[in-house]
Amino acid sequence: MEDVKEVFLKDYKKPEYEIKEVDLTFELYEEYTTVTNVMQMHKLNKDTSDLELNSIDLELVELWINDLKLKETRYIYKNEKLTILNVPSKFTIKIINTIYPDKNTELEGLYKSGSIFCTQNEPEGFRRITPYLDRPDVMSVFTTTIIAEQEKYPILLSNGNKKQCSEFMNSKHEVTWYDPHPKPSYLFALVAGDLGCVNDAFTTASGEGIELNIYCDKGNESKCSHAMKSLKESMTWDEEKYGREYDLEIYNIVAVDSFNMGAMENKGLNIFNSHYVLANEDTATDANFMGIQSVIAHEYFHNWTGNRITCRDWFQLTLKEGLTVFRDQSFSADLNSREVQRIEDVKALRERQFVEDASPTSHPIQPKSYISMNNFYTATVYEKGAEVIRMIHTLLGVEDYRKATDLYFESFDGQAVTTNDFLWAMSKASGVDLTQFERWYHQNATPVLQVKENFSDGVYTLTLTQNIPNSIDNEIQEPYYYPLKMALIDNEGNEILEETLIISKDEESFSFENLAFKPIVSLNRDFSAPIILEQESTDFAFLMKHDKNSFVRYESAQVFATQTIEAMMKGENIDQEFVSSYGYLLDLDVDLSYKALILELPSVSTLMQRQESIDFDAIYKAKEELSKHLAAVYENKLLSIYIEHHKPSSIDISSESMGSRSIKNRCLRILSSSLQGKITELASAQYDHSLTMTDRIVALDILESTGNESATSALNDFYRKYKNDTLVMNKYFSILAASDREGTLDRVMALQNDEVYDEKVPNLVRSLIGVFARNYKHFHAKDGKGYKFLAHKIIEIDKINPQMASGLAGAFKIYAKINKINQKIIKCELERVLSTHSLSKNVYEIINKILKL
Ligand code: BES
Ligand code: ZN
Repeated sequence: MEDVKEVFLKDYKKPEYEIKEVDLTFELYEEYTTVTNVMQMHKLNKDTSDLELNSIDLELVELWINDLKLKETRYIYKNEKLTILNVPSKFTIKIINTIYPDKNTELEGLYKSGSIFCTQNEPEGFRRITPYLDRPDVMSVFTTTIIAEQEKYPILLSNGNKKQCSEFMNSKHEVTWYDPHPKPSYLFALVAGDLGCVNDAFTTASGEGIELNIYCDKGNESKCSHAMKSLKESMTWDEEKYGREYDLEIYNIVAVDSFNMGAMENKGLNIFNSHYVLANEDTATDANFMGIQSVIAHEYFHNWTGNRITCRDWFQLTLKEGLTVFRDQSFSADLNSREVQRIEDVKALRERQFVEDASPTSHPIQPKSYISMNNFYTATVYEKGAEVIRMIHTLLGVEDYRKATDLYFESFDGQAVTTNDFLWAMSKASGVDLTQFERWYHQNATPVLQVKENFSDGVYTLTLTQNIPNSIDNEIQEPYYYPLKMALIDNEGNEILEETLIISKDEESFSFENLAFKPIVSLNRDFSAPIILEQESTDFAFLMKHDKNSFVRYESAQVFATQTIEAMMKGENIDQEFVSSYGYLLDLDVDLSYKALILELPSVSTLMQRQESIDFDAIYKAKEELSKHLAAVYENKLLSIYIEHHKPSSIDISSESMGSRSIKNRCLRILSSSLQGKITELASAQYDHSLTMTDRIVALDILESTGNESATSALNDFYRKYKNDTLVMNKYFSILAASDREGTLDRVMALQNDEVYDEKVPNLVRSLIGVFARNYKHFHAKDGKGYKFLAHKIIEIDKINPQMASGLAGAFKIYAKINKINQKIIKCELERVLSTHSLSKNVYEIINKILKL
């Protein structure tokens, strides 16, 4: 890998040219596409003479400057750059080039998903379509004309408003789109195909009528209604909460089956992985419905946070992604259960981001360098980025936060800006000094806060010490500034006070006076800061029963369960106080989805993060033993909750119905760790009679783990019913790949030959190979076969789709923390991958980082 180039934030330079307008014409043929690209160029830096355009894998046909066709001596095309020598200060350049969408398996640039032409250009895909200044700080007004066969491609879409359509004599037609909002190339999109469409309308607060369309494969139109509803909810919410209205005549969403990511916010033409659009109760789980709502919202919200105001360079990615994730989280919290949403968000943060931040690929939310930008769409940039915005929201308060976002939109509309510009607006509008806070953008690793308590003479004192790990390059890092929401509680559970402390020093003390008894402290309420608390003596049993803050209550149950499991791993008996506290939770009269969450035992992923040298077997064994014990002790109670809430014919997705399903499925899962025969019967009945996919998947998952005949027959039945629905087949592959049962790896290998499986479709690869790589038991098997299999797949898939391959390589991020035996095998496998001929820079970057440590 000699030709890998590392890009550094410190090397940022302003663009040397401006593209005032760009006019694109696409002629789509079956074997190739011709692109004609006409740009109005203005030189910004008078000292440059050449024009350097980004360009990957393009076949140049003709180059013109101001009506003059260029001879080949006037330009050089090499190393992904097209250099045109000696250009004037103002000129029109016309480039004609050919591309091959049908052969594009990377799914970047213009490619085909089945028979649909579609694009994915963020971050650097546009250079695979036509030579361009493919960087987010070059913003231009786009006009796009698409010419294709009328019959095969009746729908031709691009960004902006439809300007013109015409039919030709030769069975072709042409459509022209004009997008008045200047935008960077990564937001360009094109779609062509024979698509079904669901149409609706929205009227903005200022009375503009907007046409809404969701396009999908014909036959799937009826599965678009939840997405459409979510889109309208998002539009209303952004008007009410941020004062932001939509700004084009049309909002189009297209669902495609082959897509590397979840969805993309192209201006006026979002392209979605069909997983985040299509749903009905028969094919989608409750979690799928929630996912659709939040991803539709996320991409819609980008219209202001990302599109109207975009990033100066890719190091600023969290400017749009962190902020937009915070916005979609707030939206989901407003529309559903706030407490459940917060816990789900924190769970995701801990399981993905905390793991990443403790790994060799740890980086600040604003990274300092990258080799492949595709590798930096990370949990850190997204989820930790969202936590950083949330802290700003907490520090400013609701009203000043709104003033500050108003100022941000007013000051930077139409520009490509930095995270510092955002912080400037936050601080300017509120008067809050964010100088020290800025460290959250530049430092990496999860900070720890050590808590010491003291009580004497009616004074309670909290002494808090920030324990900041060194950076990934072993540099000393400075203490953070953040809000720590806390409360003091008396021994009957009454709140004495609630306050938000500002933490800013290495060590500081906070005292509370005039207390008759030693209070119990409730810390980091609502998870007000993304930190790890080290609290020794706290009475978690008390807090899990009595804390009024739903987050701390959940958290205390998790910590108590963790302590119990860790003691068991050291050979101690099951803590009976935990068992009785768990019984107390079973009796609680609270929101059912919330109840299902607090009854969940900590995940293997959270438990392993706490170990010096990870030993999966020990974690699994202790967790299973505790589950079994709880199932045995509370059998009757669990069964009666199950029966009370099991309504096989209920199919609605109201929060009450979702709550019922989640609590009774939680009970069924706990029960399934013991009482095999009886539970198999219940699960079989649930599989046979329930009308929702939510219920069927839980039942199938439980049955699969038993491995008996009822499992085989249910799995066969499922396959027969859904083999033509690839979105549902993803679930089938995932259940088998996540299985605890012996022989899972062999079954995963065999499933690759299933007629439904296709290595070119990212969703299928993720459901089978990706899920297997997170099956700790089998992936980390001591014989090393799981590692060998994944290494082999990474090499193979890298040749098809490097972004997918580097995603799979992420499973090795825990390398540094794993026990020595497994580590040795991983090292050997990763070295094998690194020595592969023509490895992509995506995979190289990830594996190289992992091995360096
Ligand atoms: N802008 C991204 C899409 C994207 C991701 C482009 C990676 C290029 C590389 C989009 O807004 C996004 O963030 N999508 C997420 C889903 C979202 C709800 C977090 C995704 O695709 O995972
Ligand atoms: Zn996004």
